[in-house]
Amino acid sequence: MRALNFGSLNIDYVYSVAHTVKPGETLSAGSCSSFCGGKGLNQSVALARAGAEVFHAGSIGSDGEMLREKLDEFGVNTDFISVTTGQSGHAIIQVSDDGQNAILVYGGANKTITEKQIDDVLASFNAGDFLFLQNEINSVEYLIRKAKSMGLTTVFNPSPFTPEILSLPLGSLSFIVVNETEANELTGKTSANDIISAFSEKYSGVNVLLTLGEDGSVCSFNGEFCRQPAFRVKAVDTTAAGDTFTGFFFAFLDRVGVREALRVASAASALAVSRAGASDSVPTVDEVMSFLSTHE
Ligand code: RIB
Repeated sequence: MRALNFGSLNIDYVYSVAHTVKPGETLSAGSCSSFCGGKGLNQSVALARAGAEVFHAGSIGSDGEMLREKLDEFGVNTDFISVTTGQSGHAIIQVSDDGQNAILVYGGANKTITEKQIDDVLASFNAGDFLFLQNEINSVEYLIRKAKSMGLTTVFNPSPFTPEILSLPLGSLSFIVVNETEANELTGKTSANDIISAFSEKYSGVNVLLTLGEDGSVCSFNGEFCRQPAFRVKAVDTTAAGDTFTGFFFAFLDRVGVREALRVASAASALAVSRAGASDSVPTVDEVMSFLSTHE
């Protein structure tokens, strides 16, 4: 699989807290660490670790060299990353004692993508190549339309959810990857079956990958409907669990089919949840296979 990920690159500042801060409260953090993150970068790392050929496009500021180096370290091609004036994107992440998180994202360089930059990057890709998108950069609509006209296989993860997503040409996508909250915003439905039916009525022909946290995941792919329970692990940090799921699912889909790709992605995501950090929590394929050999 040849994958272009036109996506965000963030410096994550992660604070461990007893509970996430409430409105009006001042809270002391137990520790502070920084990691390479961003939904885009995390998904590129996961795709690469799962064996895909990955090109990452996007923008960083002069403070963001560590983000490019992180992708290089995982074998992701970084030729299409531009450096702009101003600061890179960053995220302030609180991780509570039970492993849950609250994330504040600042777009920075991720929001400076130009149409010329997009045209220049896409000129190196062809029909059949995959394009991965999330909602942390600007110009997503232009990317979706252009990808459709080129015959790319487009995978969109509308996260973080914003009302503007409702006016994007979502019917032009090949896949939409959503969690329950995003799916509810898009369809008004809450149960997995209702969500999948609503998507097929509203955006017929768009395949849906729905993650349900502890309740596992569901995929509707070319008319086939598959469900995968989640593996039970002790949550240390859920950051990037969804990104890990996405990367492993798509890297394995062609090789093993939808049912097994869901199982592999669930295992990868369970391992990510049991570790701290964003891209640093993405497991290797060997770790995922070893996990699967000891879990039903
Ligand atoms: O999905 C996790 C990511 O969301 C973090 O790495 C953070 O940067 C935010 O973009």
